[in-house]
Amino acid sequence: MTTLEAIGGTAAAGTLYGIGVGPGDVRYLTLRAAALVAAVDVIAYFAKAGREGNARRTVAPLLEDGRPEIKLEYPVTNELPVGHPEYQRQIADFYAKAAETLAGCLARGQSVGLLAEGDPFFFGSFMHMWRRLEADFAVEVVPGVTGMSGCWTRANTPITWGDDILTVLTGTLDEAVLARRLSETDAAVIMKVGRNLEKVRRAVVAANCLARAIYIERGTMAGERIVPLSECRDASGPYFSMVLIPGQGRRI
Ligand SMILES: C[S@@+](CC[C@H](N)C(=O)[O-])C[C@H]1O[C@@H](n2cnc3c(N)ncnc32)[C@H](O)[C@@H]1O
Repeated sequence: MTTLEAIGGTAAAGTLYGIGVGPGDVRYLTLRAAALVAAVDVIAYFAKAGREGNARRTVAPLLEDGRPEIKLEYPVTNELPVGHPEYQRQIADFYAKAAETLAGCLARGQSVGLLAEGDPFFFGSFMHMWRRLEADFAVEVVPGVTGMSGCWTRANTPITWGDDILTVLTGTLDEAVLARRLSETDAAVIMKVGRNLEKVRRAVVAANCLARAIYIERGTMAGERIVPLSECRDASGPYFSMVLIPGQGRRI
């Protein structure tokens, strides 16, 4: 038995593992995650059509050629607004079929590791499989370092001090909601910035937080970029982009 198996454990037959792979740098995987990536019968992951898949890219250095893999390709990502009925229909259909595919493997006694960016239970697509499968199959969720944790670490920025209240928002929210929530909190993380960057910037300005706001692309990954939001003139960012507003609470 290798040290990784001895510490990280093995995979059980017929079990679905939601494997948090962390913010992008493979070195931030937990020992349990790394052990399961090596041990499961099937590696499964979500990906935009025609792409490698972000979580798979993170663990690629750990995957030997020939491992059985299931790529679950989204039929739609940002081509339609999330609230559009056609988006809802296609995604619901896709999740139902993806769950069926995974259920087929589990029913045959295979262990399946479904990779998840960051932490599986934090805005993760894994949750849509967990919801559909956990009543009928054994499921273990392996926590991961969240993207926001990786980002504030790489930005060398403590996010909360003393009694600071941290609010996690998404750039998909209405501008007025973003501005109000930002003005009511001590510290904030704004996820899903991407195409919403200009709206997010306006909301940050309206909430009087621009001087503290940090913009981060691909934190911990190749192509990482960290700049004060006030110096970022881009109209939109990549999928992996977020804004951090560090708290200013009690410092002793
Ligand atoms: C669907 S959420 C998934 C979050 C993930 N489960 C986690 O624990 O971080 C995707 C969003 O997370 C943020 N994100 C995750 N990892 C990131 C990274 N390494 N750099 C920048 N943003 C990241 C981006 O805002 C992205 O749009």
